[in-house]
Amino acid sequence: MKIIIINGPNLNLLGKRETQIYGDQSFEEFFLMIKQKFPQVTLSAFQSNIEGELIDKLQEVGFSYDGIILNAAAYTHTSVGIGDAVKAIETPVVEVHISNTLSREEFRHQSYIAAHAKGIIQGFGLQSYELALQSFLA
Ligand code: DQA
Repeated sequence: MKIIIINGPNLNLLGKRETQIYGDQSFEEFFLMIKQKFPQVTLSAFQSNIEGELIDKLQEVGFSYDGIILNAAAYTHTSVGIGDAVKAIETPVVEVHISNTLSREEFRHQSYIAAHAKGIIQGFGLQSYELALQSFLA
């Protein structure tokens, strides 16, 4: 099973960025752990701060992979383009957020991805990614 985690802007700063919200673990550290925990999955990860690169990656993997775990970060709330890409591809996408965006500022309540996603997991810290992965294995 081929699954990719796609992370949007500022998620390269996990472990350093607003640790009271996003925790103090780096994504690299977490990714190594999750790869070891799920050896049966061919798991890869991609991060970009650039909207178009995220769309390019969704198109690249979106007709051959078994699952996409997408945390589009701030672009979740602004990007019609990423929402359209998720709608256009065949691979199911689980939208993930580390924080519970519905308990935060109102502008974070809007998602251009949610309507096209298979499901949404948010608010469980980095464990949100793991829960999303489990949803593909279930
Ligand atoms: C986030 C929530 C977004 O509102 C925010 O812009 C992020 C991270 C999360 O994982 O909690 O960068 O997607």
